Amino acid sequence: MGVSTGMSIHRRDLLVSGAVSGAALLAATAVAGAAPPAKPAKGKTPPGLGKHEPAPLPFKAGSLTGISEKMITAHHDKNYTGAVKNLNKVEADLAAQKPDAPAYLVAGLRDKQLTYFNSMVLHEHYFGNLGGNGKRSGALETRLGSDFGAGAWEAQARATAMGLGGGSGWVILGLSLHDGSLAITAGGNHTQTLAFGAPLMALDMYEHAYQQDYGADHAAYIEAFFKNLAWEVVEARYDRAMKAIAALA
Ligand SMILES: [Fe+2]
Repeated sequence: MGVSTGMSIHRRDLLVSGAVSGAALLAATAVAGAAPPAKPAKGKTPPGLGKHEPAPLPFKAGSLTGISEKMITAHHDKNYTGAVKNLNKVEADLAAQKPDAPAYLVAGLRDKQLTYFNSMVLHEHYFGNLGGNGKRSGALETRLGSDFGAGAWEAQARATAMGLGGGSGWVILGLSLHDGSLAITAGGNHTQTLAFGAPLMALDMYEHAYQQDYGADHAAYIEAFFKNLAWEVVEARYDRAMKAIAALA
């Protein structure tokens, strides 16, 4: 799927796109009364437990405005890639547990599994919605204006990010696949996310996302984030999520 600026949508966004297309196909097939396809769509195939692979940055590391090549590279190569590697290790450890494994051990591994999996997903959404010019237009932008009031959603997202400054967490603009509503949420430990929600815009407010360039000045980092926002990617995610809602109805 192409976007207006020529920046490629993240590889895993394409996988989601494939999943939505597959869901739509299944729904259409059910309506027609025919048997569903025996195999899932190619893009829907999961990598398998312990076999997740880090995705490359979807833009040149030195191309951002106000976010240095050194910082974004460290963020991608250390923090994000580390989460993917740890996810693989945890999944392998879980698969190796015997039925009589101590409950506390399994509980701890399950906790870490969710942390690393969500960290992987949210980081891929974060890197995927950077590399743009910050300009916004489209169906989502129009809807945000009517749902929140003109400019209000961005003010609320910025205020939410400021609330996480000096701490850690994610600011996520998401679409609920449960009732179709838009929501701005603040999530800590990579795990506090909207249940059955599709992330549309992800802003990393963990200190590793800005400390190298900005120290404690998280307000300047938030400014830089919105300058580099690839809104066309956010709009494309919204479009796919709305199609998913229709397919799930
Ligand atoms: Fe991060």
